[in-house]
Amino acid sequence: MSETDAPDADDEPRTSERLVELAKRRGYFFQSSGAYGGVGGFYTFGPQGAALKGNVEDAWRERFAVREGHMEIDAPTIMPEPVFEASGHLDTFDDMLVECPECGESHRADHVVEDNTEYEDAEGLPIPEVEEVIAEYELVCPSCGAGLAGQDVEDFNLMFATNIGPGDAQPGYLRPETAQGIFVEFPRLKEYARNTLPFGVTQIGRAYRNEISPRRSIIRVRELTQAELELFVDPEGDGPDLTDVEDVPVTLYPAAEQNAADGRAYETTVGEAIAAGTIADPWIGYFLGVAAEWYESIGVDMDRLRFRQHLAGERSHYASDCWDAESEIDGNWIELTGFAHRGDYDLSKHDAHSDERFTIFTQYDEPKTVERAVVDPDMSYLGPEFGGDAGRVVEELEALAARDRSAFDGDGVTVEVDGERREIPVEKTGFAVEEQTEAGEHIVPHVIEPSFGVDRLVYTVLHHAYREDEVDGEPRTYLELDPEIAPTFVGVFPLQSDDALEEEAREIAATLRAEGLSVTYDDSGNIGRRYRRQDEVGTPFCVTVDYESLDDEAVTVRERDTTAQKRLPIADLPETLAALRSGEVSFDELAE
Ligand code: GAP
Repeated sequence: MSETDAPDADDEPRTSERLVELAKRRGYFFQSSGAYGGVGGFYTFGPQGAALKGNVEDAWRERFAVREGHMEIDAPTIMPEPVFEASGHLDTFDDMLVECPECGESHRADHVVEDNTEYEDAEGLPIPEVEEVIAEYELVCPSCGAGLAGQDVEDFNLMFATNIGPGDAQPGYLRPETAQGIFVEFPRLKEYARNTLPFGVTQIGRAYRNEISPRRSIIRVRELTQAELELFVDPEGDGPDLTDVEDVPVTLYPAAEQNAADGRAYETTVGEAIAAGTIADPWIGYFLGVAAEWYESIGVDMDRLRFRQHLAGERSHYASDCWDAESEIDGNWIELTGFAHRGDYDLSKHDAHSDERFTIFTQYDEPKTVERAVVDPDMSYLGPEFGGDAGRVVEELEALAARDRSAFDGDGVTVEVDGERREIPVEKTGFAVEEQTEAGEHIVPHVIEPSFGVDRLVYTVLHHAYREDEVDGEPRTYLELDPEIAPTFVGVFPLQSDDALEEEAREIAATLRAEGLSVTYDDSGNIGRRYRRQDEVGTPFCVTVDYESLDDEAVTVRERDTTAQKRLPIADLPETLAALRSGEVSFDELAE
């Protein structure tokens, strides 16, 4: 992951610091288990945060599952060890760890290097080189300042291990990505997709990574939420229909630009980038376009978002190409989403390690006539000759015929069974080359994977919405959240503490809730304070009931960003607010 630092000239506390403070105070997110001292990398989303996260997940589901016509599943978060032996996570899902000789604190060695040298992609360096860089630059422990030169750098596996059931006979792991829950169910999922490619399966759920140094609040946590789409495609099949995305503007930072001395990110469109070959796979291009529009729709500032291609040494063990969507946070680029071409890596591995087939039968456009080398062994010879091994000998003969028909050119043919060579006269193998008509073939589909980190999306949306201004000579902080994403859509207040006003306000709140709007009722403190509270939470509108309301059946509606106010009939509120929420009408367009 790249968290490339760009210097922030601002001496003020960075927006992140203010945002994290606001998040705790207003119930967005805070470190978990605080009563017991808290533990790094675990965060609780409070009432506002849980609602915002839920809205982001719903918006994702609507765009990437429902609108694309894909299935959604919900798999367990603990999976048995063989799954991760097959997937490669046991062997390769590691980060580089260096331990401080003085304070004993563990650090990610590649981060220590990236944070203190000109290296931008230390994750891709071999361990001995990282050790050399630490020594050469005399890098020190970020916690206590002791020198790290000469310390061993080790691979540290990021998976949380557990035991399934009593004892340790069945080891399991908390999944490090939701994706494996989809891959292992491919043999059933393809049936639900009626064995037709392409088809997509999505999942929103928790994943677990025992990060060496969790940091930046919810940006690097040990329990995270991912929203992943695994699209299974025929590598020889038609690509996506690009009509809807080809004109979508994107800022790209391809590997070639990163490697060039004067390389830079630049603006283009999805269509141009695919035509130029910069984005090699049209499916990846398709998802970059869909995602760019979707990020914007949930309030990501697109001037602070870019798509960066992974450098060769940076790619995960399963990926042949990968682009990350990165958002700018206080001068750093944070990975929001990975768009990976996983090829046939995962399905081939599970096919080889499990008892089921992870292939799909694809029909040719026209049946094909092909030559096939086949055997039809004489069992009256093989049975007495090889006894219990006769079946295995037949399997080996079949495999050999398919692989190397020239092996049957002589008088005898040799196969190996459990390391033992078995000689069979060719005349007893029934070897022949036949013409066969085939309607299709079994293939291992390729996988295109957009993988979104929901925690980082929530953080980005909040950070990009964070504003400070002055209202009536007073400083104000507010979150300019998109109305469809904001956790609370409308605050309803009685102007003063008065039974009649409170009753009317409560009634309005109940009516709006019944219409499906997210409403908070607040009658504590002066009205200015209540507005400020809702501004900080990012509530787009506030409705105030005053004494006139009791006569004219109208209320004051205040808009968060401009603080402009309009008087609207109570009877129209549900319809008007729903139109404001969906963007059908703007506050400016509303008549008094
Ligand atoms: N299935 C592919 C996969 O898991 P990844 O790049 O390792 O790919 C996908 O993770 C996304 O999950 C990242 O782009 C990031 O947004 C999020 N993510 C990964 N590790 C994270 C962590 N420790 N804390 C928060 N989010 C994380």
